[in-house]
Amino acid sequence: MHSIASLQDYHDQYKKSIDQPEAFWSEIANEFTWRKKWDKVLAWDFNNADVKWFINGKLNITENCLDRHLATRANQTAIIWEPNNPAHEAKHITYKQLFEEVNRTANMLKANGVKKGDRVCIYLPMIPELAYVILACARIGAVHSVVFAGFSAKSVSDRVNDAGCKIVITSDGSYRGDKTINLKGIIDTALESCPDVSRVIVKEYIGKGAAIKEGRDVLWDDEIQKASAQCDAEEMDAEDMLFILYTSGSTGRPKGMVHTCGGYMVYTNYTFRTTFQYQEGQVYWCTADIGWITGHSYILYGPLSAGATTVMFEGVPSWPDWGRFWQAIERHKVNIFYTAPTAIRSLQQAPPEFVKRHDLSSLKVLGSVGEPINEEAWHWYDENIGKGKCPIIDTWWQTETGGFMIAPIANVTKLKPALATLPLPGVQPAVMNESGLEIQGNNIEGRLAIKFPWPSMARTIYGDHQRFKDTYFSTFPGKYFTGDGCKRDDEGYYRITGRVDDIIIVSGHNLGTAEIESAIDEHTAVCETAVVGFPHDIKGQGIYAFVICYDKPREEEKLRSEIKEKVSKIIGPIAKPDKIQFVSGLPKTRSGKIMRRILRKVAEGDTSNLGDTTTLLDPNVVDEIKAGAL
Ligand code: WT7
Repeated sequence: MHSIASLQDYHDQYKKSIDQPEAFWSEIANEFTWRKKWDKVLAWDFNNADVKWFINGKLNITENCLDRHLATRANQTAIIWEPNNPAHEAKHITYKQLFEEVNRTANMLKANGVKKGDRVCIYLPMIPELAYVILACARIGAVHSVVFAGFSAKSVSDRVNDAGCKIVITSDGSYRGDKTINLKGIIDTALESCPDVSRVIVKEYIGKGAAIKEGRDVLWDDEIQKASAQCDAEEMDAEDMLFILYTSGSTGRPKGMVHTCGGYMVYTNYTFRTTFQYQEGQVYWCTADIGWITGHSYILYGPLSAGATTVMFEGVPSWPDWGRFWQAIERHKVNIFYTAPTAIRSLQQAPPEFVKRHDLSSLKVLGSVGEPINEEAWHWYDENIGKGKCPIIDTWWQTETGGFMIAPIANVTKLKPALATLPLPGVQPAVMNESGLEIQGNNIEGRLAIKFPWPSMARTIYGDHQRFKDTYFSTFPGKYFTGDGCKRDDEGYYRITGRVDDIIIVSGHNLGTAEIESAIDEHTAVCETAVVGFPHDIKGQGIYAFVICYDKPREEEKLRSEIKEKVSKIIGPIAKPDKIQFVSGLPKTRSGKIMRRILRKVAEGDTSNLGDTTTLLDPNVVDEIKAGAL
């Protein structure tokens, strides 16, 4: 099996992936089970946003995630399900059991009218049925469209209608810490504006007695009993749709990113195994929700196709206490732990006892994803969780890329705190300047584009190929534009500086908000920061910082000047914030992303129209921020 054993090996393989991409990827693709091999590895045209991998190859991804493991690992645990409440027992689902559950669920879908090519909306909490039904769709060639079960009714109906789903799979509710959420109620509201949905399958999870709409709704537990545990996998073309997953766009209307079967399978498997250096028998835990691409690629498809044991966590990091993650690592002897900087920063605030009381000695590799990790969080993670012995794999990628793009390879790549380091084999980054030219050499800064296709890239936006072209292939014609800014240092290492829409130009100087935030976070009183630009008469743009402190600041003015001093020292006087507003929270989406659009409006002094705030975790913080605006 393809692996990377040393830095030299990485460089050799990287070179091969650039010089002979088709040979490189076909060797890796040959490690999988195909019904029929491809005629041609790759056809692409970035000017028209057309990309095809493994042309005319036939396969079913579930045969690679399930069937092919049965001979060797039928009784190995595929999924460890860790429930919301740690007093309840975890569930160990073997590959054989998973295979049977997926087959049964696939037959249940068929019996409810689902056919190859149909889109199926899935709105479920992090329970095993979520994994079953996703894989069941893949087994019968239906296209899953998972909507994170924290999204509002409006978000659900928009997505159901955009994808043309006729069926929705949901549950009566979900647990989140000590709260329960009525998911079925949200679906009922959503479906008032989805006339084409004719079937809802409801898993009764938190109790019996979900409101049932006669003729439309059926119960999972009734339906599954009628289904057999044998369902032949549908033969899929490598370029058939595997799933749609929505990601937010700059215009507000979400984009249904389309991923296809062959390339996505090959790439998620390869990147999972190589970057984390996954070893046979290890326990791997990605804390994301399966409602995001991270969960699709690196809880389910990547790990399962690699025959790994993957943890699926229903709970939250803060309940019943701040030790929840560390307790679960100890309980399941987790070897590879993959989480987000936002989680790390909130856990960092908790008293150290919550970490210290747990045995974390099973850990070998740590991961980070979702936003640039600031140096302070990186060091805390390294020292307190990794005990200085576990490489931190900072994975830069996107919903659109399907899999990791720039990331260190565990115990191979030399690390630098807060840098995503080097491109993975097959990934050809280009750093672009404002005039659309590629900047050559090192020690440079610009916009990050990718100039050659990789197997798991999104193929289109569902129903709107023109938008796909406009959004990703028009800024730099002939290249995929990521929307991120980056620096390439003297050793060719990449530091992602944040979305370029978050770049602030101050007196002609290009400053990444993430960079300023990281500097402010270095102040010991500061817990978390969000920085945006605002119009400034002299500088063009000024810097406005929203700062959360561990304790409510007693002398605000003194702290402000200390923070400015800190930034001045770390980045330079140019990056000193003009305004610092102390806040108790930031407007975050349920996935933990700061909604900067709102902060920008506040910073501009225009709070009359803040746009849609319904997807915020806590819409109340907006009122506090508005009231305290400077
Ligand atoms: C955007 C993509 C990829 C799964 C989760 C987010 C930012 C993501 C990193 C990282 C710096 C990162 C980028 C990217 N981002 N990971 N390791 N370092 N920035 O997926 O919601 O599609 O967001 O998240 O800005 O463009 P997404």
